[in-house]
Amino acid sequence: MPFEYKKVLVLGATSGIGWALASKLVEKGISVVAEVDLEAVDLEILTNYTSFLHLTKAFLPYLQKQAPKPTSMIYTTSGLALVPILYCPGYCSTKAALHHHILALRQQMKDADSNVKIIELFPPAVQTELHDAKHQPQLGDRGKDIGMPLDEFTDEAWAGLSADDNEQVPVQMVKTMMGFNGWEQERQKTAQKMWAFMKQQQH
Ligand SMILES: NC(=O)c1ccc[n+]([C@@H]2O[C@H](COP(=O)([O-])OP(=O)(O)OC[C@H]3O[C@@H](n4cnc5c(N)ncnc54)[C@H](OP(=O)(O)O)[C@@H]3O)[C@@H](O)[C@H]2O)c1
Repeated sequence: MPFEYKKVLVLGATSGIGWALASKLVEKGISVVAEVDLEAVDLEILTNYTSFLHLTKAFLPYLQKQAPKPTSMIYTTSGLALVPILYCPGYCSTKAALHHHILALRQQMKDADSNVKIIELFPPAVQTELHDAKHQPQLGDRGKDIGMPLDEFTDEAWAGLSADDNEQVPVQMVKTMMGFNGWEQERQKTAQKMWAFMKQQQH
């Protein structure tokens, strides 16, 4: 009797028997729904979000002690903090979480007249090792051509970081296609209104 199912959920398909059987199913034209690798999700959250909170907690008291000398913390998020793409929703979510955290932290620092400026750099896709075959084997050789050349990114990022208005540094298409100059401004205005409203409620 032929295998009668057209769609199969395979648990434990990242290696071994599960991986081999999933490959066989794909070879036979059956759609395979592999489960989300939750260990990888935990690691992604730790690397892209939680570690920044640890670093902030560790460095902030030191930087605050330098007052009145101006200091700053520069966080690298991504244009994907603003718009998720279908290819890597977990990565986009960690960047969005860090972006929200940064927005709130920056205002907290301002409310406290702090000497620590909170800066956020938003790269678009850039040609780095992030997309190479070691880090994203599914992309193979194509990965190295993804995004803008690294030297062009560095020049634009440096210009933004060196500008007077350097709290938020969106680079290349993050400004336009990914919404920084558009609806992200509306979101941040709404956040300002919300914070002012909550402050008023407290008095
Ligand atoms: N490239 C892009 O298209 C792009 C787009 C938007 C945002 N970004 C963001 O820009 C930042 C830099 O990315 P990239 O493109 O330069 O990536 P990359 O070429 O892969 O470099 C990542 C760097 O982070 C280090 N690293 C990774 N995991 C670490 C950990 N757990 N603890 C300490 N260091 C760790 C790596 O060190 P090892 O080599 O020792 O692991 C490497 O030095 C990331 O936050 C990324 O999300 C990149």
